[in-house]
Amino acid sequence: MSQTIESFIEQIVRQVVTDKVTHQISSNPIRRSLVVANWKMNMTLKTIVSFIQNFNVKNGQGEVVLCPPDPYLYPVRSLLKESNLSCSVGAQNVHWQDMGAYTGDVSAEQLSDIGCKYIIIGHSERRMSGETNDMVNKKVDQALKYNLIPIVCVGESKEERDNQRTSDVVRDQVLAAFSGIKNLSQIVIAYEPIWAIGTGESASPEQAQGVHELIRSTLFEQYGDIATQIPILYGGSVKPSNVNKLSSMKDIDGVLVGGASLNADDFSTITRAFM
Ligand code: PGA
Repeated sequence: MSQTIESFIEQIVRQVVTDKVTHQISSNPIRRSLVVANWKMNMTLKTIVSFIQNFNVKNGQGEVVLCPPDPYLYPVRSLLKESNLSCSVGAQNVHWQDMGAYTGDVSAEQLSDIGCKYIIIGHSERRMSGETNDMVNKKVDQALKYNLIPIVCVGESKEERDNQRTSDVVRDQVLAAFSGIKNLSQIVIAYEPIWAIGTGESASPEQAQGVHELIRSTLFEQYGDIATQIPILYGGSVKPSNVNKLSSMKDIDGVLVGGASLNADDFSTITRAFM
């Protein structure tokens, strides 16, 4: 490697600064569509390279976000640049403190530093391992402090749906996540019914639309007009075969995709439904 460490660091810093400026200019308050890949604890460098080679997305009005496991955030960002793919990069979690003795955790400042733009917060798989509404709220605050866009996941369990508690649960999660947050112009919400995640059983487009409407009206009551500009994504067994109906619903502004985002062809098809 002929490059010195200093020039390598300088190059990274220059790239990150340029991206931050571009991000600020391109942020606009009009509701946009968003397709997010949540790779969870999947993929390796080899499979990521092959995914990026085969991913076929046109530059449309929407935005595509890839959320790899933390070790691959920077490599994915570099590979996207090399391939001229205009996708953004997001993390799957963040700590709510600035820094400190939190073994295994990652801070918002660190994620921002390496060019992350989004962070998934409150995913049900994290709530299942102890993440509370209060932690979600602190993480949202921390993400916004470092100009990262939180993608806040909410959704009911099968038991809660069967007991007609969906509206109460989702409403409480939305209100708790943004409690005390002043500026909601840079947030995204993902409605992910727990019973639909990884099960192959998606919510019907009408079921999803109903909850999306509830989320938007909850935001409207609390925060006014800004609610009309907040993208609300659906997540839970989204696949090429059901994405078109989901995308035709007026309050479904995009999707958060787990399993089907691991396959470049499937994810390309899903992406096209919103671009
Ligand atoms: P799935 O996961 O698409 O595999 O159901 C969605 C998610 O967990 O975000």
